[in-house]
Amino acid sequence: MSRLVVVSNRVADPRKTAAGGLAVALGEVLNNSGGLWFGWSGKLVDRPAGSPQPVRMHHAGQVTLATMDLTRVDYDAFYVGYSNGVLWPVFHYRLDLADFDAGYIEGYRRVNQLFARQLLPLLRPDDILWVQDYHLIPLAAELRALGCQQRIGYFLHIPLPPPLILAAIPGHDWLVKGLCAYDLVGFQSGADLEHFTDTIRSEAHAQDLGEGRWRVFNRTLQAGAFPIGIDVQEFNALTQGIEAVDMYERMRREYSRRKLLVGVDRLDYSKGLPQRMRAFRELLAKYPDTRNSATLIQIASPSREDVSAYTDILHELESLCGSINGNYGELEWMPVRYMHRTVARSRLPGLYRASRVALVTPLRDGMNLVAKEFIASQDPEDPGVLVLSRFAGAAEQLKEALLVNPYDTEATAAAIHVALQMPVEERRERHVAMLATIRRTDVHWWCDSFLHLLGQTEAHESGTP
Ligand code: G6P
Repeated sequence: MSRLVVVSNRVADPRKTAAGGLAVALGEVLNNSGGLWFGWSGKLVDRPAGSPQPVRMHHAGQVTLATMDLTRVDYDAFYVGYSNGVLWPVFHYRLDLADFDAGYIEGYRRVNQLFARQLLPLLRPDDILWVQDYHLIPLAAELRALGCQQRIGYFLHIPLPPPLILAAIPGHDWLVKGLCAYDLVGFQSGADLEHFTDTIRSEAHAQDLGEGRWRVFNRTLQAGAFPIGIDVQEFNALTQGIEAVDMYERMRREYSRRKLLVGVDRLDYSKGLPQRMRAFRELLAKYPDTRNSATLIQIASPSREDVSAYTDILHELESLCGSINGNYGELEWMPVRYMHRTVARSRLPGLYRASRVALVTPLRDGMNLVAKEFIASQDPEDPGVLVLSRFAGAAEQLKEALLVNPYDTEATAAAIHVALQMPVEERRERHVAMLATIRRTDVHWWCDSFLHLLGQTEAHESGTP
């Protein structure tokens, strides 16, 4: 069995609950193969740009975690500047928020080169590499340039936009070429995959070899859609855990006379939080039966606070929540309970289970695992209803959710009203179908199907992309 090497910007100890389902699933596969997980330590040092930092090794069971610090200058250009100031907004269709400063791409390239140089000596000839997400698109090309022959797969956790949006990034063809240096490239949805194949067809004259194989830049590449899932079993266990049960009971007590709606997101402009608040305000305005009876708990966990677009969204959201409570609140009822903080992962299933409706209404999202976690934590006899944006990758799979266009305030408010009124039989029917889907395509299925296909790709060919 080949050893698995996972590379990602953030590295988590898979044994810790806070690490989340992805780390748990990767941890399991890594553990089975005595694997290596390589990435940034999360620490910054004040050294000159590009200076290589030592790689530190930790052991977590059979898994080796290999991490390195970044210099502050590299972090500013690679993480803040290019990854989150260019790729994140453009890949989420927000050209208006992108900052195409030329220095950022240099930093992005520099850190990818640094990762390649530091990782290469740790590799064994029959390793299989799996690179994760938008921070590391050019990593395979950098590794190949250093002579790396191992199989390398790549998974993009965020959406891939259509060719004309991608083309707005100065030097975008370098990114496309970078993606083509992998042996297998995976996307969250069929739509993302189509955007990729449209791009390589129109920009690199890729030749379709059938069954997801493409001849491009003088080499063969496999591409596919692998919608990521959650670890349903692990999440069920979390739901039965003491902290989740305690949370559930408290919420049920406090909201015994009211219906609870819940939203849990990183505070990110892609999540459509102001649009969600406007839809909730419209609900209160248009459907008086919801006044004094529906409460929205919105948790927005702090994220990327050194990127300016994130501070703007914070102010907009705070002012909207304040005005809704000011206009509709009463002495004994506040319509919105908004928290700008992180809630422990172990408590969330209790909050989800106590809620009648979940609002998962991003303007654009690669997948959105909150939607799947909400389904997994419901009581099957009395399940809640998922209101889901059609622009989340999860909408391709979860057809039984109430699908909404988050830009359409009135229609979203109407869908939330339907969700609040939905009879228990219909709630059960929808829940059963969605539960079957998230079970069938859980995170283990995601890992196994990607790695199985990567294992079947031909060993790396010498053609340089
Ligand atoms: C998204 C990305 C991940 C990222 C996470 C948190 O889910 O796909 O790669 O780790 O957001 O963002 P952060 O910038 O804090 O790592």
